[in-house]
Amino acid sequence: MSDTMRAVRLHVLGDADALGIEHVQTPEPGRGELLVRVVAAAITREELEWPEGRLPAIPSYEFSGVVVALGPETAGGTVGAEVYALSSFERDGAAAEYIALPEAFAAPKPRALSHVETAALPLAALSAWQGLFEHGSLREGERVLIHGVGGVGAFAVQLARARGAYVIATTSVDKAGIARELGAEEVVDSASDAVGDQTEPVDLVFDTAGGARLARASEVVKTGGRVVSVATEPPPYPNRPDVDSRFFLVGPSREQLVEIANLADEGTPRPVVDEVFPLAEVRRAFERVSSRAHRGKVVLRVGGD
Ligand SMILES: NC(=O)c1ccc[n+]([C@@H]2O[C@H](COP(=O)([O-])OP(=O)(O)OC[C@H]3O[C@@H](n4cnc5c(N)ncnc54)[C@H](OP(=O)(O)O)[C@@H]3O)[C@@H](O)[C@H]2O)c1
Repeated sequence: MSDTMRAVRLHVLGDADALGIEHVQTPEPGRGELLVRVVAAAITREELEWPEGRLPAIPSYEFSGVVVALGPETAGGTVGAEVYALSSFERDGAAAEYIALPEAFAAPKPRALSHVETAALPLAALSAWQGLFEHGSLREGERVLIHGVGGVGAFAVQLARARGAYVIATTSVDKAGIARELGAEEVVDSASDAVGDQTEPVDLVFDTAGGARLARASEVVKTGGRVVSVATEPPPYPNRPDVDSRFFLVGPSREQLVEIANLADEGTPRPVVDEVFPLAEVRRAFERVSSRAHRGKVVLRVGGD
């Protein structure tokens, strides 16, 4: 393995035009860490705003790849194992040939999916899982309204349906078909602001879009219901003190990734991959993920399988 590697680096916060491929030091796995050769890495809209105070930064916080080295005091890692993970938002990411990360973050890759499909899982599926089940306490038989059927929303629809909830989704007209295929029982056009007139009140709103939808979320919630957003902080709902509203940051979890991989191997959730770009076309990839037109996840192909 060479001392240096190809990596995408961001030099100006939020500016995809300031992304370039550079040769940087290959990371060393620290205590309890794995070094992984990245095969595919996925990106998220707005993530170029996240590495505040630590530029230049390598973007992308989710990947699928192969373990190539173990740091000291690792417990169960194996060189050659295929793994996938959500990595830390505080460190360099996965848009590079190699990434070092705590072994506690990495789980075995789902056998039924390719590396590209697997890279589309960690950030979005964990966000959906934690938003619905940890922060939203969604239970079988409840009604959930999911705002946005994009990266996170596509998993939220599938996971909520699999849990036995009644699922209503708001999304653009051109994504209504996907929303239904993934399991939404009702789909409301997100360009209309009449969601409250078109559906009965819900136990939980899970918001992935922010903006006007989140601003009006309390209007469609039952007494004592919940609003959970992964997109932005919900505004105050002064007329609805009974509503529990919150924003959360997704966290890495090997245990949840193991469970998600098992479910994915059985067929649900299935990743929705919008488009795959070679690492060298990272600027185009960020252009695509920033556009309203993308459906599901945008993935960078980094190395060979
Ligand atoms: N807090 C955290 O830890 C965390 C974790 C993951 C993601 N995020 C953030 O959460 C949000 C959802 O992530 P995601 O991957 O699901 O995002 P996404 O697919 O890009 O967007 C989610 C929804 O927002 C709407 N949208 C898409 N592009 C837009 C644009 N250019 N302008 C305005 N609205 C647009 C779409 O609604 P329609 O379906 O109606 O078209 C889409 O389904 C993003 O802002 C992301 O940065 C936060």
